Amino acid sequence: MKGIILAGGLGTRLRPLTLVTNKHLLPVYDRPMIYYPIECLLNAGIDEIMIVTGGEHAGDFLKLLRNGKQLGIKHLAYAYQEGEGGIADALKLAEDFADGEKICVVLGDNIIEGNIKKAAGDFFTQKSGAKLLLKEVPDPERFGVALVSGDSIVEIEEKPAEPKSNLAVTGIYFYDNDVFSICQKLKPSGRGELEITDVNNAYLKRGDLTSEVLEGWWTDAGTHESLYRAATLVATGGANHLELTASAEA
Ligand code: DAU
Repeated sequence: MKGIILAGGLGTRLRPLTLVTNKHLLPVYDRPMIYYPIECLLNAGIDEIMIVTGGEHAGDFLKLLRNGKQLGIKHLAYAYQEGEGGIADALKLAEDFADGEKICVVLGDNIIEGNIKKAAGDFFTQKSGAKLLLKEVPDPERFGVALVSGDSIVEIEEKPAEPKSNLAVTGIYFYDNDVFSICQKLKPSGRGELEITDVNNAYLKRGDLTSEVLEGWWTDAGTHESLYRAATLVATGGANHLELTASAEA
C-alpha cells in the first residue's frame, strides 16, 4: 500500500504565517507539521510516500525533507497542484505514483496521538472499496460528518450546519485504486472544489465503504485555534513521536 500526503492549498486561514512558507511546514510544538502525517504512515509500515503540494513555497519541502531517507522513508515523491481545486483534485495527481495499488491518504494538517496500524492491516485484507477513520468531536460542523447505524455509515455530509452526529470523518482515508476513476467524474462543489466527501459518498453508494473509530486524540491544524491546540496536545501527550525525532536528527 502506498501513502499519499495532501499538502496543497493556500492556507489562507493561517495568514499571515502562510505568506512566508507553506502551511504544512509551520511548527507544531517541536517539529514541522508535515512530520506528523509522515510519521502516521511510517508507523503503519507505509514507507513509499508521495507529497502533493502547491503554491509559492513548494520548494521549501525539498529543503526540509530532501529524499526522506533521514526520516526513514524508502521512496519519497512529490507532485505539484496548480491552484486550490480541492482535496480530491490534489489526489488525482497521485494516480501514476499509486500504480494500481491500494492507497492510504492523509491530509497534511491532520495529527493523531496513536497509530493506524490496525486499520491499515484491516484495509489490506478488505477486498475492495474504501475505509474511513471517524472520531467523536465537540464541533462536528467544521468537518465531514458521518451518520452511523450499527456498524455501517448511512450518510456523510460536508460541514453541515446541523450535524446529525458528532462523528467527524478524519483526514485519513484508505482507498482501492478505483478512487482515481471516481475523482475523474467529480463535479466542483458550491465552493468550487472537488470534495473528498463526494468521493466517500460514491463508495457509500456502491455499498463498499467501511469505517473504524480512531483511538486517541485527533486534531487538524488549519486554523490559528486548531494549530495552537495541536501544539498543546503534542507537547502534553506526544510520547509516541520521540522515535521519529531521533532518526530525523541522526
Ligand atoms: O480534517 C478533516 C477534514 O478535512 C474532513 O472532515 C473534511 O471532510 C474535509 O473536507 C477536510 O476539511 P477542511 O475544510 O479542513 O479541509 P482543508 O481545505 O483545510 O484542507 C485540508 C488539507 O487538504 C490541507 O491541509 C491540504 C489539503 N488540500 C486542500 C485543498 C483545498 C490540498 O492538498 N489541496 C487543496 O486544494
